[in-house]
Amino acid sequence: MAKRALTGIKPTGEPHLGNWLGAIRPALELARDYETFYFIADYHALTSVHSAEVLRRHVRDITATYLAFGLDPRSSFFYRQSDIPEIFELAWILSCFTPKGFMNRAHAYKDAVAKNEAAGNDPDDGINMGLFGYPVLMAADILMFNTDVVPVGADQKQHVEFARDIAERFNHNYGRAFFHLPEPRISASVKTVVGLDGRKMSKSYDNTIPLFLEEKALQKRINQVVTNSQTPEEPKDPEQSHIFSLHAQLLSPEEDKVLREKYLDGGMGWGMAKKVFFESLNEQLRIPRGEYNRLLAVPAYLDSVLAQGRERARSVAMPFLENLRNAVGIR
Ligand code: TRP
Repeated sequence: MAKRALTGIKPTGEPHLGNWLGAIRPALELARDYETFYFIADYHALTSVHSAEVLRRHVRDITATYLAFGLDPRSSFFYRQSDIPEIFELAWILSCFTPKGFMNRAHAYKDAVAKNEAAGNDPDDGINMGLFGYPVLMAADILMFNTDVVPVGADQKQHVEFARDIAERFNHNYGRAFFHLPEPRISASVKTVVGLDGRKMSKSYDNTIPLFLEEKALQKRINQVVTNSQTPEEPKDPEQSHIFSLHAQLLSPEEDKVLREKYLDGGMGWGMAKKVFFESLNEQLRIPRGEYNRLLAVPAYLDSVLAQGRERARSVAMPFLENLRNAVGIR
């Protein structure tokens, strides 16, 4: 049987270039070697998105984005977390096997507490129970489908380790391997995508390049990437250039070499560097952008894809959960 890879996508913002290169593209590549599960973690988003309209819009945008980049909902499982009620029931069961201390140590929670303390606020200011218990729900996402690997960024590795630990405790208690132990997989080939200002591209830094801008707006946005004051003639160090770092992510190794030489030789001004980056990005986005716009115009189609995903995922989740209910004595 093919190994299973599973990843959750949090619908918390407008899809940007960092989402594509850092998450969507590598996730979709997994479908070559794994049986793949992709889901929209809308109940995770609810820990921070408290506007119904915004949450709905982000879910729709993310669904269309994955499909626009070629996710095949017939060969992969593709569903919305909130459509699988079994996941919540499992989250409760797991929470009864999760030491509270794990949650105290979770990075996202600890960071929030540290920020409050630094600002002289109450340590729990603005922290809801959803944020605190986030890793348990994530463990349920993963353990429900006997996941082998979870492709994640470094920031999510701890969450996958919690899922393993919680699974082991449960298995140990009931003396059987009810849960498969998942492995986090941090891909070496996925590089940090820098934003306009050279920091990691992130909605919270307001430095993103949105994926589906129309051409003119995309070009304008790219022109805002920060460069230094070198003249066009001067040789440039590709390793120090945000434009190069972004552009290189679209290139094959051979093309990378050619572009690198151009920077090093001099004669490549920043205006030109931005122009050639825009052209390659625009070329690669042309088809997905068209697809994305086409999909957003037919919300009923998006709904039908999610409805099918729901049926497929629940056909796995329902018997699995029934078995666990029996195991714990609820049935
Ligand atoms: N926490 C992940 C993120 O912020 C999203 C997520 C939720 C997830 N459940 C998951 C990722 C399960 C992998 C597996 O990006």
